[in-house]
Amino acid sequence: MLVTAMKCETFVAHEDPEVLISEADIQARVLELAEQISKDYEDCDELVMVGVLKGSFIFLADLSRALTIPRVIEFIAVSSYGRGSRPSGAVRLVMDVRGNIEGKHVLIVEDIVDTGHTLKYLIGMLDSHRPATVRTCALVRKAERAEVDVPVDYLGFDIPDKWVVGYGLDYAEKNRTLPYIGTITPFD
Ligand code: PRP
Repeated sequence: MLVTAMKCETFVAHEDPEVLISEADIQARVLELAEQISKDYEDCDELVMVGVLKGSFIFLADLSRALTIPRVIEFIAVSSYGRGSRPSGAVRLVMDVRGNIEGKHVLIVEDIVDTGHTLKYLIGMLDSHRPATVRTCALVRKAERAEVDVPVDYLGFDIPDKWVVGYGLDYAEKNRTLPYIGTITPFD
């Protein structure tokens, strides 16, 4: 039987992403973060890494595998009202962690901190589960876009206020699986 290739619509931006952070630089920084986290938690029984869906899935996979301490993986999902050029800042929980994190050391793993509303909400929400500690780790942060003060205990890179894709980050669900982080100019 003859199978013809599917034609898929993939054009979501005016141009291909321009490399902002290379694959090699990401991998090197992930190893540095993993080394620091492993050191900081070396006396703990277990670290609960909470990945924030969807964007953190690749960063979490690489970071968690590079740790040298006991760790378990959880996921959480949130939705932001008014996401786009004018986010409202309101965050809604879509999926909570499955396991009991009471008394555990928790590390929230994010791909990006933009306005900071999501991370601030998550810290408060996870705190309500009464863990021993809650810290935060983000691959990239747009410091210029910050609307709230939120601690990022482990940060990969500060980046300029540009639309970024790749390594988990998307534009209209596209380009998440690029091995590097690139910038695009989205359609209006
Ligand atoms: C991104 C990112 C953070 C949030 C940060 O998620 O993964 O969760 O935005 O933005 P903030 O600092 O302005 O609150 P997004 O809503 O794009 O969903 P996704 O991870 O499923 O792509």
